[in-house]
Amino acid sequence: MHKQSSTALNQLSQLDRQGHLKHLITLEGLDKATITALLDRARSHLRPKAARPSHSQALAGITVGNIFTEPSTRTRASFELAARRLGADVLNLEIMLSSRMKGETVLDTIRTLEAMAMNVFVIRDAEPGVGQFVASHVEDHVSVLSAGEAHLSHPTQGLLDALTIRQHKQAFEPLKVAIVGDIRHSRVARSGYQILKALEVGELRLVAPPGLMCDANEMPDAERFDRLEDGLSGVDVIMMLRIQKERMALTDIPKESDYFAQWGLTHQRLKAAKSDCIVMHPGPMNREIEIASDVADGPQSVIREQVTNGVAVRMAVLEAVTQSRPVLELAQLP
Ligand code: CP
Repeated sequence: MHKQSSTALNQLSQLDRQGHLKHLITLEGLDKATITALLDRARSHLRPKAARPSHSQALAGITVGNIFTEPSTRTRASFELAARRLGADVLNLEIMLSSRMKGETVLDTIRTLEAMAMNVFVIRDAEPGVGQFVASHVEDHVSVLSAGEAHLSHPTQGLLDALTIRQHKQAFEPLKVAIVGDIRHSRVARSGYQILKALEVGELRLVAPPGLMCDANEMPDAERFDRLEDGLSGVDVIMMLRIQKERMALTDIPKESDYFAQWGLTHQRLKAAKSDCIVMHPGPMNREIEIASDVADGPQSVIREQVTNGVAVRMAVLEAVTQSRPVLELAQLP
């Protein structure tokens, strides 16, 4: 039904007539200046650990609707916290308890919520194209943000990953970054590739067993490795990925112990990377499958920082898409 996936979008269709970000469905086509401005804005929302989180009323009077048809802990919680910390009203639609279960179409659900003055829809869906479909049907003053689209796109994850790398490594140009694991089924890998390319990272590596590598025509500017030790050699950043069983045929799912033996990131294997290499993982992690617990919790891990940065990035994106929201004069009211 939703034939146009995020990969068919370009920067222009996500910007309004004034060139401001209106929707964020994909990072594909977003330029370095737009991305850097979002990262700078996100940084302004970071606070020292024990301090109170960034708070404002920037989104007072705005309503944000979270519509997740796939499970989520980090993305959903951080979008909700981000919206509340900016003073917005938040609706979390419980899909299993919604009228979608009685056959209501996506568009009828959206139109219904629009009639309750929704300003921003945050959408996670397993079907490609839902975000783009909704964005092309909402009213002019409404924004759509992807919270994860099938295996294709997870733009705010890409932004929070880039922010985390920038905090530790400052410049992107000299860096070697390895994306490791189930690349084939990963929206995190695709958005990571798009943002790191836009930020002109020095070397981007895709490291995966042949069955979990993406097709040859995808991510053409990355180097491909089918041995973990080779792919990790001398890198500054490792981005580990979960095996996404939910997108695989039962017969294609590797045996967990075999996978860890060949592809698990262990302390020993981490030694192939630079000594100050950071280890990232978008979560949820499968410990002792793609990553050893002592690496996940070790001194090179920045996994919890990624989570913290997720709230800041989503605050920045919410502010960006609502900044030009018109305030109606009394005479314009119905
Ligand atoms: N990284 C990520 O998208 O995590 P959740 O599925 O928990 O939102």
